Amino acid sequence: MLLKDQVIVVTGGAGLIGRSFVSAILAQGGTAVIADRDEGAGDAVVKSQQSQHPLASIDFVKTDITSRQSLQALIAAVHQKYGRIDALVNNAYPRNQHYGRKFEDVEFDDFNQNVGMHLGGYFLASQQFAAYFKKQERGSIVNMASIYGVVAPRFDVYGDTPMTMPVEYAAIKSAVVHLTKYLASYLKGSGIRVNCISPGGILDAQPEAFLARYNSYSLSKGMLEPRDLQGALLFLLSNMSQFVNGQNIIVDDGWSL
Ligand SMILES: NC(=O)c1ccc[n+]([C@@H]2O[C@H](COP(=O)([O-])OP(=O)(O)OC[C@H]3O[C@@H](n4cnc5c(N)ncnc54)[C@H](O)[C@@H]3O)[C@@H](O)[C@H]2O)c1
Repeated sequence: MLLKDQVIVVTGGAGLIGRSFVSAILAQGGTAVIADRDEGAGDAVVKSQQSQHPLASIDFVKTDITSRQSLQALIAAVHQKYGRIDALVNNAYPRNQHYGRKFEDVEFDDFNQNVGMHLGGYFLASQQFAAYFKKQERGSIVNMASIYGVVAPRFDVYGDTPMTMPVEYAAIKSAVVHLTKYLASYLKGSGIRVNCISPGGILDAQPEAFLARYNSYSLSKGMLEPRDLQGALLFLLSNMSQFVNGQNIIVDDGWSL
């Protein structure tokens, strides 16, 4: 039990990767708090996880990571119930209705809005939780970045599909990697660690032709599944990584080599 008695907040915990993280936290004896904007999806994850882990402790708190007030209410609710918060996983994936356009078609306002919601939301959640962790004199933040914040996209994998790697995403995720280092350094001596995980693409019913091109760059499995990221998360949340700080763990089956 790597996370026994630990209380861990997962933003975007109702989504594809978030619900797999929640499941891993519960399996390791931790308490998981899903902080997500989507109430229906959050409630569904709570129900399905409760049936898989009947003894585990799981909550949903409706949260918007772009609202200071919402984040403060989240922290207050979790503190009131458990008297402690051990970690924040910045995993939400906010995007507006125009997100995903090709470079030439991205409007200035959409660029700013998507960067603001996603990178700005990770900043705001980190700021609010760091203030709580400072008082507690310990805490851990794990940011979800991406290989697309580390290496340039391989645009050839998208072929003639409507898919692309949005320019905002590269800007956001490279900034998340650096925000991680900035914050780890800024919080020196506070007992707070800040690290990030950079996954490659994650399987989610993508077109076969795209997958074949993507997989040709992988070293063993091909595109990974959400559960393949659990080990990196558990390592960073647990005491096994006590002296790992400001680091970025790439989990992509060697795709970005
Ligand atoms: N899926 C991938 O291929 C992949 C690859 C690398 C990195 N990532 C990163 O992993 C993280 C999770 O991605 P995912 O694929 O599970 O996304 P997802 O869209 O499946 O889930 C994201 C969740 O975030 C929630 N959300 C959106 N805006 C929010 C807000 N303002 N406040 C609170 N919650 C909000 C959504 O309701 C949703 O439940 C993201 O940071 C993403 O960039 C994903």
